[in-house]
Amino acid sequence: MTDALITLDAVNKWFGKLHVLRDVNLSVAAGEVVVVIGPSGSGKSTLCRSINRLETIDSGTITFDGRPLPAEGRALARLRADVGMVFQSFNLFAHKTILDNVTLGPTKVRRQSTADARAYGMELLERVGIADQAGKHPAQLSGGQQQRAAIARALAMRPKAMLFDEPTSALDPEMVGEVLEVMTGLAKGGMTMIVVTHEMGFARHAADRVVFMADGQIVEQAPPAEFFAQPRTERARDFLGKVLSH
Ligand SMILES: Nc1ncnc2c1ncn2[C@@H]1O[C@H](COP(=O)(O)OP(=O)(O)OP(=O)(O)O)[C@@H](O)[C@H]1O
Ligand SMILES: [Mg+2]
Repeated sequence: MTDALITLDAVNKWFGKLHVLRDVNLSVAAGEVVVVIGPSGSGKSTLCRSINRLETIDSGTITFDGRPLPAEGRALARLRADVGMVFQSFNLFAHKTILDNVTLGPTKVRRQSTADARAYGMELLERVGIADQAGKHPAQLSGGQQQRAAIARALAMRPKAMLFDEPTSALDPEMVGEVLEVMTGLAKGGMTMIVVTHEMGFARHAADRVVFMADGQIVEQAPPAEFFAQPRTERARDFLGKVLSH
């Protein structure tokens, strides 16, 4: 194996009788940006959630940075810090300020001093363009601003990889761009990323590789230019026909 940061090997997952991940093999190199697309229910979220062990798998192995995922305890907390996750819903703490949301993890999990965490937190809020919102509470921000705060919060842990599960799906259309812009910046800056999204423009411009899932399987994967120009399977063609037509 070369420089894979994330490796899934023959991963299977069932929800009861439903086989949601079927022999999934996926290797993501350090610095690589992988966009995962596919129909609803194909297992995209489960795949993401398995990688930072929000879901357990039934067979196969997942390794992160050369080690199998830890099952519990401090090692698991460290994994969750190393693998930042951003969801469709922003999941910010409602009763804390934006800056406090960003500094909580670094002070509690990474044991950083409050001063250091706040300084780096402000730097990140600057980077995502909401430094002026630092003292406000989440409800006082727009959806796009909240999602950028959620990204800053994940980055504050100095993660080795970031997982995004439909980060723009809950946003009003006019706010999608500002979040994608932050993600594009991260991608260009060399962050290892797995991004589940329906934003095909982002896939085209920011992804190194597009992974198409259907029925719990990776059906095909290719660099975006190749995938969008010549999808090899009927299922991918059918899916692209639907998502690109509106
Ligand atoms: N906690 C759960 N318990 C039972 N079934 C689940 C659970 N979570 C997901 N599933 C089922 O597993 C399958 C895969 O779900 P998953 O959320 O991974 O799909 P997805 O590709 O992310 O879909 P979407 O595009 O709608 O977000 C679906 O059939 C879903 O209903
Ligand atoms: Mg999903």
